[in-house]
Amino acid sequence: MNISEKIKAKDAQISVIGLGYVGLPLAMEFAHKASVIGFDINESNLNVMRAGKDPCRELDDEIFVNADILFTSSLDDLRKASFFIVAVPTPIDEHNMPDLKPLLSATESVGRCLKPGDYVVYESTVYPGCTEEDCVPLLEKLSGLKAGVDFKYGYSPERINPGEKVHTLPNTKKIVSGCDDEALAQVAAVYEMVVNPGVFRAQSVKVAEAAKIIENTQRDVNIALMNELSIIFGRMGINTYDVLAAAGTKWNFLNFYPGLVGGHCIGVDPYYLVYKAAELKYHTQLISAGRFVNDSMGGYIGKKVVKQILSYGKPILNARILVMGMTFKENVSDIRNSKVIDIINEFKDYGVTVDVVDPYADPAQVEKFYGISLLKEPHGKYDAIVVAVAHNAYEKLPEDYFLQYSSDDGILVDVKGLYRNKIQKLHYWSL
Ligand SMILES: NC(=O)c1ccc[n+]([C@@H]2O[C@H](COP(=O)([O-])OP(=O)(O)OC[C@H]3O[C@@H](n4cnc5c(N)ncnc54)[C@H](O)[C@@H]3O)[C@@H](O)[C@H]2O)c1
Repeated sequence: MNISEKIKAKDAQISVIGLGYVGLPLAMEFAHKASVIGFDINESNLNVMRAGKDPCRELDDEIFVNADILFTSSLDDLRKASFFIVAVPTPIDEHNMPDLKPLLSATESVGRCLKPGDYVVYESTVYPGCTEEDCVPLLEKLSGLKAGVDFKYGYSPERINPGEKVHTLPNTKKIVSGCDDEALAQVAAVYEMVVNPGVFRAQSVKVAEAAKIIENTQRDVNIALMNELSIIFGRMGINTYDVLAAAGTKWNFLNFYPGLVGGHCIGVDPYYLVYKAAELKYHTQLISAGRFVNDSMGGYIGKKVVKQILSYGKPILNARILVMGMTFKENVSDIRNSKVIDIINEFKDYGVTVDVVDPYADPAQVEKFYGISLLKEPHGKYDAIVVAVAHNAYEKLPEDYFLQYSSDDGILVDVKGLYRNKIQKLHYWSL
């Protein structure tokens, strides 16, 4: 029997290394078709999973019922697997350079467990070449095995979109790749167990890596264009969303909007490409310009609001501003790499008092990462209210809701254009 047949027959086990937004949904889907070892280094999260809950709050509890999965941090358990899938974070460091520490550390764990005949598939987003240049040599070194001969490897990027239930793992076509034809066939067969629309077989591991990174780079550059347009239109006194509604009636006008680009995908992945291009002596211009524009938006919004408060004859020192939304995007609890903090820091630089609310974010996490105490409810009157994240809970708020918390000449700052054409009494500004 080949590896995929063994997995289907539960004669071989799959392991998923890194049980976060990507790894846990994948592990849980497999756990209803195969025998799974879920490996992570975060013991407190493992305990939450053992209790049948998703620490990221993306999965329903039902998926844990009757799942064939062992949650563990033990290499002895990991060693029992034959098909290893690595889904650990690939962040950037403070200089916007790829930080491969989690990826290489997970690779070390796998390398110590590899046996002849095993498979290793990477899911983490990386620059093209990372799997074969950085990870596979480490697997070979630690296992003493030869890649492509003693063990096989592949790459299969994830496309999930936290916070939405439409493009989930089981109903979204997935790219797979392998180090040779046999590996490609086996990796495809394993993923086809859980991906209903099937898989796309990429030409090579590098092609699959490149495909993933450009999915997010394309979005980043397009959003940057919208952000730059919003700066220009702001100077012209026209609303960007009004312009986009008009332009969007053309059949081939692309559907992108201005906004903050946070999180650990769109705002991070292009830096991996920028890094790799620089290594190959090409200095990216368009991609880097997109990053620059998007990374500047928090500061831009902050300054814009400060200027408006001043324009109504109010002092800025000790002005009060309410920020609604702290997560990196709508309807998720994840606050990592949230660009809302850039707006808040800009306000603080001017001596503004800032209150922050968010129904989705965990107050303890916000305190830990940003030193901000989330309020349960706004209190008192504010000179400006900034709706920074388009949470569902905010979408239907009427103007009266904001009016009750607004001082004279109060401003509603609608970063995502949720209340366009609905605000009559407050001063209104959106990107
Ligand atoms: N979140 C997304 O929307 C998304 C979408 C597509 C691709 N990706 C990519 O998938 C990868 C994983 O992202 P994520 O959002 O799931 O990350 P995450 O931070 O949610 O989860 C990663 C998990 O890996 C664990 N981990 C870290 N180092 C480890 C190690 N050495 N050994 C074992 N476990 C370890 C952490 O404890 C955590 O539970 C990244 O490369 C990311 O770019 C993410």
